[in-house]
Amino acid sequence: MPLFWDWQRPASLAQAQTRFDSDLPIVLRGATARTRERHSDAITDSLALFDRARAGESFEGMLHERLDPRRWAAAGATIDAADTRELEKVFVHARRGRRVAARDLYAKLSWIAHDERDSSLRIRFSFGSEALLDWQKETRRAPWSDRLAAEAFPECAAITGSKPLVAFVERMLGCKPRFSERIIYNNAPGGGAHFHHDDEEHQLGVLYNQLEGATGWFALPKRQLAEFVAEFARGPLARRAGTSRKALRALDDTSDAALSRLLNSTPQFTRALAAVGTFYVLHAGDSILLPTHGPDDTCWHAVYALGSRPSLAHSYGLFAARRR
Ligand SMILES: [Fe+2]
Repeated sequence: MPLFWDWQRPASLAQAQTRFDSDLPIVLRGATARTRERHSDAITDSLALFDRARAGESFEGMLHERLDPRRWAAAGATIDAADTRELEKVFVHARRGRRVAARDLYAKLSWIAHDERDSSLRIRFSFGSEALLDWQKETRRAPWSDRLAAEAFPECAAITGSKPLVAFVERMLGCKPRFSERIIYNNAPGGGAHFHHDDEEHQLGVLYNQLEGATGWFALPKRQLAEFVAEFARGPLARRAGTSRKALRALDDTSDAALSRLLNSTPQFTRALAAVGTFYVLHAGDSILLPTHGPDDTCWHAVYALGSRPSLAHSYGLFAARRR
């Protein structure tokens, strides 16, 4: 991407649309630079919440401290013993007067990594049954879950209140967006995420917003990643992924250890990706838009926490406000 790239210039929109339609990431420099200043206290409080959680404080207690009981009724908390990363899932009902307007909204606090040395945390806002994928099937409770996130983490408004950013997303999607399945990230030094995709039914993309600290990103279309995999695959992996077409299918197998090694811990592979400009650094105020148009037409990405302190970022799934 050229250095003079300014995503807000009308002349840049056509180029941005081409990138979006081609599953290429779009880095939006300073997308929340102004709005995040208005929410700097909330950002500081959220960083402190994660530190308190790491020190063992109850997430349920901290969440309810942030919610107005006239609007939100406590509905208990659970811990999934089968998920070693989950710390606490706190359920809340939304109130409208004396009535319950939406049941079983939740905020789930988890470690990001299986590796115990990585102390990165995240909080996901959703509703209903996770195992039954209620969030993919139902749209009625989604706005309530978004409202819950916005009240618990007021810095959500740094993103949803940035008019140029929202207008840009609307333009790229071609419809009014709903920012749902919100995840608050607290990436600790050395943490991050291996290569993966966020292609989910009805999800048109993901908007990740760096509010404090910095992260490094590899982000590129799955088809382009498959070409690199085909070129670098050796030995038994070459039989499974030695052509672009085979590599495209091999990427669907998340349990392939040899492929994961190639993608995430092979310096020559990583250097080759960086050499063609697929690495980006996000600083506070920057956002990245990751398009998705289907299982093979989606932007794959890997994330690296940069800096010496845990950072803060909000990542939102992008959906059509009205499902077509
Ligand atoms: Fe992701």
